[in-house]
Amino acid sequence: QELELKLEMLEKGGYDHFMMKEIYEQPRSIRDCMRGRIYPQKGLVQLGGIKDYADKLKNIDRIIIVACGTSWHAGLVGEYLIEEYARVPVEVEYASEFRYRNPIITDKDLVIAISQSGETADTMAAIELAKERGATIFGICNVVGASIPRLTHAGVYTHAGPEIGVASTKAFTAQVTILTLIAFYVAQQRGTITEAKLVEYLTELDSIPALVEQTLKANEQIKIIAERFKDSANCLFLGRGSSFPVALEGALKLKEISYIHAEGYPAAEMKHGPIALIDADMPVVFIATQNSSYEKVISNIQEVKARGGHVIAIVSEGDTTVKDMAEYVVEIPQTAEAFVPLLATIPLQLLAYHIAVMRGCNVDQPRNLAKSVTVE
Ligand code: G6P
Repeated sequence: QELELKLEMLEKGGYDHFMMKEIYEQPRSIRDCMRGRIYPQKGLVQLGGIKDYADKLKNIDRIIIVACGTSWHAGLVGEYLIEEYARVPVEVEYASEFRYRNPIITDKDLVIAISQSGETADTMAAIELAKERGATIFGICNVVGASIPRLTHAGVYTHAGPEIGVASTKAFTAQVTILTLIAFYVAQQRGTITEAKLVEYLTELDSIPALVEQTLKANEQIKIIAERFKDSANCLFLGRGSSFPVALEGALKLKEISYIHAEGYPAAEMKHGPIALIDADMPVVFIATQNSSYEKVISNIQEVKARGGHVIAIVSEGDTTVKDMAEYVVEIPQTAEAFVPLLATIPLQLLAYHIAVMRGCNVDQPRNLAKSVTVE
């Protein structure tokens, strides 16, 4: 039994839980998923798994992303990136809804199925339906040789390595990284981005693993925040633009492993409902980095404060405006707007982790949840 315990410790790489190990693996897993795929000096993205479809990408009318759970959140980030850089309309669908909806699909549609496990039943059924109707199907999967990579026409593996914790962490940031690469790749094929811009973006993207490493240094500070809010019954996560899916993912992490009721919302939608919940017992987590919606988010923070809510804000390094308003701030390094989701997700994963540990929850195997859902 002692041996078993030692083996388990070894597997967890010295961390108390797989989830923490996997959170800390992210600088490496993001690096692994970019390896051999980006050439910053040349301003070039190469994706071997989909290269046979490079020409096809010039003529697609639309991209439909299908996924479930955390992978669906990655898809929402992808929507922002692909529309911004490749200028192709994108729809993001829950696989379970898409498959039963008699969706309109043509042979000029590209469907991208995202799945960590590559075994999710609903996602597989969505792929089969889209395939029958003539769409081209790409997969973004983590598990090599799983069912979904075998069902799709082409695809890109995330190469994040095995993910054991039921709550997805490193697989999510890897999916977002791949979607970023796909956005640039499609942009490259369609001529919607200049080489000079690509040099600039890819150089920045290349530095993301180091910036994730830096972001992880907030761990001790996040523990203090977790201690303060661990007994909350509810928690709201708000963000705008591509930080909205990050808010959804932050809320999902918290509810999955700590069983605190949490909701993610686009910050501006708060006034259409969630604002009614805000009182002195309600922590509200804002993603308030310095990007195009910064000023708007600041006014949303003021609205929450005016109602006595507790504001925890994820801000860009050096921010002073939000620091003066929020109860707690966590700084993340400055980066291009496109890459903020890769950094802003990290403190939210850590917050969920510490709160769950403090509440005595089974972090790696939360009740009622499975790592892969192979039934509908
Ligand atoms: C389950 C897991 C989630 C995951 C979802 C989709 O609910 O607990 O972590 O995001 O399935 O799984 P997939 O393997 O398709 O990404």
